[in-house]
This record gives sequence, C-alpha cells and structure tokens, in this order.
Amino acid sequence: VAIVRFSRVADLRARLDRVRGSGAGVGLVPTMGALHDGHGSLIEAASARNQEVVTTVFVNPLQFGPNEDFTAYPRGLDADLALAEAAGATVLFAPGLDEMYPGGPAAVRTTVHVAGVTAPLEGAHRPGHFDGVATVVAKLFAIAGPCTAYFGEKDFQQLAVVRRMAADLSLPVQVVGCPTVREANGLAMSSRNRYLTDDERNRAAVIFRALVTGRDLVEGGESSPDAVSSAMRSVLASEAVVSSIDYVAVVDPATFDAPVSIAGEVRLLIAARVGRARLIDNVGARSPSP
Ligand code: PAF
Repeated sequence: VAIVRFSRVADLRARLDRVRGSGAGVGLVPTMGALHDGHGSLIEAASARNQEVVTTVFVNPLQFGPNEDFTAYPRGLDADLALAEAAGATVLFAPGLDEMYPGGPAAVRTTVHVAGVTAPLEGAHRPGHFDGVATVVAKLFAIAGPCTAYFGEKDFQQLAVVRRMAADLSLPVQVVGCPTVREANGLAMSSRNRYLTDDERNRAAVIFRALVTGRDLVEGGESSPDAVSSAMRSVLASEAVVSSIDYVAVVDPATFDAPVSIAGEVRLLIAARVGRARLIDNVGARSPSP
C-alpha cells in the first residue's frame, strides 16, 4: 500500500479516527524532515508495533533561536517521502507553517514550558528551544490523538522533556525512546551532519570516542564526575576540528541533575561545534555495583 500524504490537520484527524475505529494501533514519528537512517529506525520500530505509522515533517520555527539555522535547515520532501515509505510509514503529514501556526509563529499565544529538566545543557545554551519543542510536540500529540510516539535517544534531553510533558498533561500518548543510530565511525546520525565536509564528518567521530572514554571510566569504577568530564574534554581537545565545546556533562538520566558522585546509572552528554554544525551526542553508563 502506497504511503498517503496529508498537509491538513482535519484530514489527518479524520484518517486516524477511522483507522483507530477499525482497531488499528497508531504509531507517530515526529521529525523535522531531512530524514536519515536514524529516523528510518524510529519508523521501523513504530511499524513493528502499529498498523498505522504517521511520520510528521515540520521544521518548527518556535524551537530555533534568532541566530540559529531555521532558514538553512535542510528540506527535501520527495526524499523524505521515499525514506519514510521504505521504512514502513503509511502516512506522511507535512503541514505548512500556516496550518500549524495560523497567523505565523509570532501570533502564538499559548506555549508549553516543562520546568526542571529543561534548565541545564541544551536549555541553557538554546534559550526557548525546549518551549518550542514542547509546544509543537503537544500540538502534534493533540492532532494525532491516542497513539505511541517514537523519539531518538540522540536528543536525550528532548526525550526527557517530551516524556515529562506527556505525563504532566495526561496526554493519551505513550512515549518510546529508541537507540541512536551511528555511522560506521561512531558519529551519531543527524540531519545537521549534512553541514559537514567529508573530512569533518570523519573527524567528528571524536565526539563518540570521547563519550566512550567517559563510559569506560564510569564502568571501571570512576566515581568523580569531574574526572570523567576532564577525560572526555581531553579526547575532544585531541582533534582540532572541534572548534568549540558548549558542554561536556555527567547527569542523572531522569532529572538531568548533576550528581556529586557517580553511583548507578548516569548519562554522559556532549555538545560541540565542528565546521558549520553544532553537534550533540550522548551515551548511558552504569557504575559497577559495590
Ligand atoms: O527531534 C526533532 O526532530 C524535533 O525536535 C521534533 C521532535 C520533531 C519537534 O519539532
């Protein structure tokens, strides 16, 4: 069955009400397009468990800061449609700006703010970003209705924000996190990797090497967050292609609080610039049981 494409909220709602009425489960994969195999794996996970799989493509202006790459963000709906269909999506929802924000983004009067987990790291470096994400995801959840939604762990803090929002607002959506898909050299797949030259793409794998170094230390029993962060920073410093580092962090995976000492499960996260791209990545690590 060929994938169906909608751009109107009312048309998508009518279709999803109908398929739910006939007993089908709905999987939702929200994206900003420029789909790659990481998105493909989310769509595959959704299609393994739901008869109806909706991939949404919307570059959401609310989550970009004034000096960020909203205009430059890669767009290509034909390629997105082909990848989504090959991965098992049954519907592609690609609304225009006016459909999502009648009157434009500046006319929006209601936004969603998730406190706490949005404060550090991405929240500190990209003011307003998570309000934009939470607002558009709340809208997509309201449009889709009861469903299971799939998000990548690559944006680990975003996943925590979306989980918290869905729980706090009693939205009828189950949020599922899926593992990061990596290039052969370890670089996490991202639409923003398109900004990199081949050489930068090879060298950017240093970010994953730094995370693995941190994970090895934690799993070897290192309990000092500072020691783990410094070791990760040293690995990043060994590669000149990393022009600046926004953060190197060790946090509690649920609250994003910084632990005084590492015991149990933590998340290691990095945000750094390589060439024209700002890249983020993370891994989980567990300290050995005492
Ligand atoms: O991860 C993304 O691509 C976006 O932040 C999302 C969740 C689709 C919201 O615009």
